[in-house]
Amino acid sequence: MKTCIVLCFCVVHSLSVYHAHGTKTCCGPSKWQGVVLQTIGTYSRTQDFASLAYATSRVYYDYDNKLVAVKERRLNETAGITTDTWKIMQYSEATSYIIENGRCQRLQLAEKMPSQCIPDQAVSLGTHKYPGFDADIWFVKDNDTGRATRYGVTIDSCMFLTESYITKGPEYTYVSSLYENMTQTIDDPSVFIPPSFCPRVSERIRGTLLEWRSLFPITGVHRMDRNN
Ligand SMILES: *[C@@H]1O[C@H](CO)[C@@H](O)[C@H](O)[C@H]1NC(C)=O
Ligand SMILES: *[C@@H]1O[C@H](CO)[C@@H](O)[C@H](O)[C@H]1NC(C)=O
Ligand SMILES: *[C@@H]1O[C@H](CO)[C@@H](O)[C@H](O)[C@H]1NC(C)=O
Repeated sequence: MKTCIVLCFCVVHSLSVYHAHGTKTCCGPSKWQGVVLQTIGTYSRTQDFASLAYATSRVYYDYDNKLVAVKERRLNETAGITTDTWKIMQYSEATSYIIENGRCQRLQLAEKMPSQCIPDQAVSLGTHKYPGFDADIWFVKDNDTGRATRYGVTIDSCMFLTESYITKGPEYTYVSSLYENMTQTIDDPSVFIPPSFCPRVSERIRGTLLEWRSLFPITGVHRMDRNN
């Protein structure tokens, strides 16, 4: 009987330790750059129209200076169009720049800087093995937007490896992302400096500029300052 109690205690105790470990979300580095490879599918149920695109983006993220830059090449398979876009987000000035085809737009940025943290409410799906490394997998569903996101991050430094999400209809978007060549330095800080031909007066826009920002659902932004 005594053995059983001790044994039971041990089992419960080790489960609770595992549980506590398994539910503590993590934060990635405050500065990184990497290449994000994406497959993007859309489907509009109202228009019965589907499309497919592939994007390769160089992403630069500097939390301390509140800067994000993205250089994206997108092949829209459905339209047969390739576009190169350079986006600069200066969150401390609530300003962004979109440079495309030698044209620059300066826009007011309403959204907050995306967090480098997995949101608190994310559920752990455990540690998964890939050839050469292990990844912690997290799942989170945003109740407001209905967007369900699955993240894979490195175990030691919480760097992004994979991400996929699907949004709620009737306009569906599915995005699957692979993160490559991630480093914790930014080798060319000029990616954050808009070219001289950019306008000085902002237009107003609504909505999100970043496909990959789903990494950081809006419900998770309160975690942004956790590293400070
Ligand atoms: C592809 O281009 C079409 C036509 O411009 C557009 O409606 C669709 O949203 C694009 N799809 C993606 C995934 O970018
Ligand atoms: C989302 O909704 C589910 C089911 O109603 C609820 O259990 C969960 O706590 C909600 N999550 C958040 C973050 O509000
Ligand atoms: C990653 O880095 C390697 C070595 O520098 C390079 O050969 C490769 O093209 C890079 N991958 C991407 C997707 O840029």
